[in-house]
Amino acid sequence: MSIHTIVLGTGAYLPKSVLTNKDLEKCVNTSDEWIRTRTGIHQRYIANEKETNSYLATQSARRALDMAGVQPQDLDLIIVATMTPDMPMPSVACLVQNALGAKKAGAFDVQATCSGFLYALSIADKFIRDNRRMKVLVIGSEVLSRRINWEDRTTCVLFGDGAGATVLTGAREDRGILSTHLHSDGSLGDLLTIRGLGTAHPVTPEILERGWQYIEMQGREVFKCAVKALESVAWEALEANGWTGDDVDLLISHQANIRILNLLGERLGLPREKIFINIHKYGNTSAASIPIALDEANRKGILIPGLHILLVAFGGGFTWGSVAMRW
Ligand code: UT7
Repeated sequence: MSIHTIVLGTGAYLPKSVLTNKDLEKCVNTSDEWIRTRTGIHQRYIANEKETNSYLATQSARRALDMAGVQPQDLDLIIVATMTPDMPMPSVACLVQNALGAKKAGAFDVQATCSGFLYALSIADKFIRDNRRMKVLVIGSEVLSRRINWEDRTTCVLFGDGAGATVLTGAREDRGILSTHLHSDGSLGDLLTIRGLGTAHPVTPEILERGWQYIEMQGREVFKCAVKALESVAWEALEANGWTGDDVDLLISHQANIRILNLLGERLGLPREKIFINIHKYGNTSAASIPIALDEANRKGILIPGLHILLVAFGGGFTWGSVAMRW
């Protein structure tokens, strides 16, 4: 039997502070009703100054390691998917490596926006299929609140902070990761962007004045692209595994908008109970949304052995992808 990547443990960590739609009504011209009906979001978690990306990532990792029964010093590799690192250098993965005391682990970050966790999972899968004894920690962690213009109602109601983690290894078993598919289209990058604070547009008073430190999104356009890309990558995964829609037991999608999730479910012919939804609690946490959802489903006992799970994500870049698994 060929080697498959299996999940030994999952974990998640959310900041302490909750920001509700009602709270947002006091800051911008919006309403709880608009946010709920147009996005499905009821609240989101917002990190305080001490809750850095690496702190959230490390806390989620500790929980996943606990569940896996794996010691940090036994980890071979740490991959963190994020677009909101503590700093350009060192990487969040290296900060986590140090915080955990994962002495023998390699560590690096992956930047593929909201699809980042699936990109990181795909990379881990390649390493593990090469050497099934490897123990790999894959984290999705974001502090998007620091990249939000809190005066822009079209974006500030959407995003939240958080982290999720998985501990992976290899096994000659008929379960684990079955397929991975990754895609991108850089020609549409301007539709969802943070233009400033990189080396092209470093911090200057002018850049800050223009608000280029913040997320900008052409929401309606992104919505259409997301539905199309998620549907197509889902069919691609089904075909690669010889599955039909009926063979999917649980769809865990990146949580960007409940209307996207509902449309995707309709197009794949999936009943509501097969679509995992937790956007109402967390908002859009970018690379953290899928590992947070996986952990939640796992701890609720939804992920029973043999379950066919389809993970799909779409985000800025554009990037999108899928991972199909048998639990
Ligand atoms: O995670 C990566 C991928 N991201 C996504 O997939 C997000 C995709 N996009 C979306 O989820 C939706 O497009 C949004 C939730 C961002 C926006 O929803 P929409 O239904 O596409 O709204 P819209 O942008 O077409 O705006 C409709 C109206 C506008 O008013 P007018 O021009 O019709 O008078 C907006 O100004 O809603 C207004 N509006 C708001 N009203 C109250 C926009 N944001 C708000 C708000 N509160 N927060």
